[in-house]
Formats: sequence, structure tokens, C-alpha cells
Amino acid sequence: MAVPNRVVTNDDLAKQMETSNEWIVERTGIEQRRWVEPGEGGAELAAKASKEAIERAGLQPKDIDLIIYATLSPDVNFPGTGVFVQRLLGLKEIPCLDIRQQCTGFIYGMSIADAYIRTGSFKNVLVIGSEVHSTGLDISTAGRDVTVLFGDGAGAVVVGRATDDRHMVLSTHIHADGSEAEILWTEYPASRHHPRISAEAMAERKHYPAMKGKNVFKHAVTRMPQAIMEGMQANGIKSILEIDMLIPHQANLRINQMVAQMIGMPPEKTHNNIQKYGNTTAASIPICMHEAIELGKIKPGDLVCLVAFGAGLTWGSVFLRY
Ligand code: UT7
Repeated sequence: MAVPNRVVTNDDLAKQMETSNEWIVERTGIEQRRWVEPGEGGAELAAKASKEAIERAGLQPKDIDLIIYATLSPDVNFPGTGVFVQRLLGLKEIPCLDIRQQCTGFIYGMSIADAYIRTGSFKNVLVIGSEVHSTGLDISTAGRDVTVLFGDGAGAVVVGRATDDRHMVLSTHIHADGSEAEILWTEYPASRHHPRISAEAMAERKHYPAMKGKNVFKHAVTRMPQAIMEGMQANGIKSILEIDMLIPHQANLRINQMVAQMIGMPPEKTHNNIQKYGNTTAASIPICMHEAIELGKIKPGDLVCLVAFGAGLTWGSVFLRY
């Protein structure tokens, strides 16, 4: 994982908008987040996380034969950010696939990597979730509902061919429902508008993310348990207690506590670190998983469930033996 050095506390935000540490902690659990300094982008964070992931996998960058880059905050409109990571890693000609599934981006990325590896198309797939939100947030009271939630950061994993059934991806399940796509989105700049961005749109703050928070919350606490149950069923897992560690997307600590309670997962079998990093969308699961591994909460061979829900709306789960 890689996060920027700059720590932004709730009190720092309260100096710039009408909010408070109490409100943010009570509703979301977030205490601080990391925001980039000028000149630091998603590709740089991703490259840092990727180098560490590749090294820990006992590989070298040249062993990677596909990069999957999940983000909702690409460094530039085009090309996709994956090619910039490829360049920073000193790689040439391997394919780079950018995907746009927001908070579920990492789960979608894992499902693509798993499928490619199963077909034998690729051997070592680098799956990255990386985000720089801070440069696109409304740092005023008008944007406070969204702005206090998001942080910058990157996480990466290498998915390779399993050599035995004790360390492998067991299942991936991914879903989407576009019927309420606008309850969490950033509308501008957009190719559907002429011009793509205008002074009027900016005056209406339409280039900032907008969210119907309560709706999103309700969908999250419904879809995440469904995705977990779907994975359990597919793998013949009868009891939730068979899962050693649940790593949920970090959107709101209250969401994750509610989900854990709904499925009967004891607190010691799930890990959250939104308190320190806020919601880093596609990066949150690999960052959280990395931390759980570092803390010894995930050990080799453990049954791990990754689960996410996010804009789109999108949701899904990955079950794996680490
Ligand atoms: O990754 C997936 C994406 N996001 C999510 O999953 C987020 C899902 N939603 C949520 O986590 C919650 O809806 C929020 C934490 C965003 C908001 O909590 P809420 O309990 O749903 O609050 P609310 O939006 O209904 O707002 C309650 C009040 C409002 O004031 P009034 O109308 O009651 O006077 C807001 O204006 O809190 C106000 N408010 C704030 N006050 C202080 C909204 N944002 C803030 C803020 N600081 N940052």
C-alpha cells in the first residue's frame, strides 16, 4: 500500500467548512485521511504500492504480464492511468486495462485477473486500486457531506497461478444496477455536455461529487451481506464463522459494523482502518487487507472474504485462501 504523507484531520477540515470532529466520527468513524501534495498523482502512489507487492510476491516487475488499474479518479482524462504505472515500473508492451467500478473496482479487478489466470492467458497479474480524491472535492460547507469522507491512497496485489488449493482465489461475484446511477456521481466534465464543462455548471458545483447519502447507505447494508452470502453458497460455506477474516470496503465504519452484525460476524474476524484513511474507494480493500496481513490478522492459508459496494451502483465479493 502507499498513502500520501500529508495527514488531514477532522479538525483541519473544520477550519475550512462547517463541520466537526464529533459529527464526522459519530456518523462515519473517520478520524483522519491522507491527501496528496501538489505533484503527487495516482500513478505514483500506485507504482509505490505495486513495487512492494511485486517484491513481496517474490517477483520482479518484468514478471508482470498484465496491469489492471481500478480508479474513479484517473490522473488524466485519457489515456488510462495504467500506462503511466507501466512506465514508472519500467515495463514495456504488457497490456494495461483501466476499469471504472468505483468502490467495487478492486473486486471487479480481481475477478478479471482470476478469469485471465484460469484461462492461462496471463501468469502474473498486477491488480491496483488507486485514487486521488482530494483534488476534486468541494472544500466548502456546500460539499461537506462528501468531502469529509474521502482520502487518497493506493493498494496493489499480484495474482498468480495457484500451485496448490491452500492458496487460491476461490470465487468472485460481481454485480451492477444502473437504475439509480445518479445517487452517487460526478456529472461534469462530461462528453454528453456541450461544452463538457461550463462556468454555469461550475457555479452550480456540478464538477464535484454529489451523493444521496442515506440512499447509498441503505443499498450498501443490503448488497454487501447479499454478496457475502452468494460467495458462501458458491463455496459451500455453511457458517459465517468458517471465514477467518472479512475485509469490507471502507466507506463508513457504521456501514461495516451494521453489515458484520447482520451476518453475525464477530468484530475480531473483520478489519477496518477507515479511521486513518477515510474512504479511498478502489484502494480501500487492498490497503485494509495489507494492514490486516501486517497485523497478523490474516495468515497464509486463511479463508478471506473481500466485499464491496459503491457507485454505479456496483457490488461484489471475492473469497480466497491467502
Ligand atoms: O463508498 C460508497 C460511497 N459512500 C457511502 O457509502 C456513504 C453512505 N452514506 C453515509 O455514510 C451517510 O449518509 C453520511 C455519513 C454521508 C451522512 O450521514 P447521515 O446520517 O445520512 O446524514 P445526512 O446526510 O442525513 O445529514 C444530516 C445532517 C444534515 O443537516 P440537517 O439537514 O439535518 O440540518 C446535513 O446537512 O448533517 C448535515 N451534514 C453535516 N454536518 C456536519 C452533512 N454533512 C455534514 C458534515 N458535518 N460533514
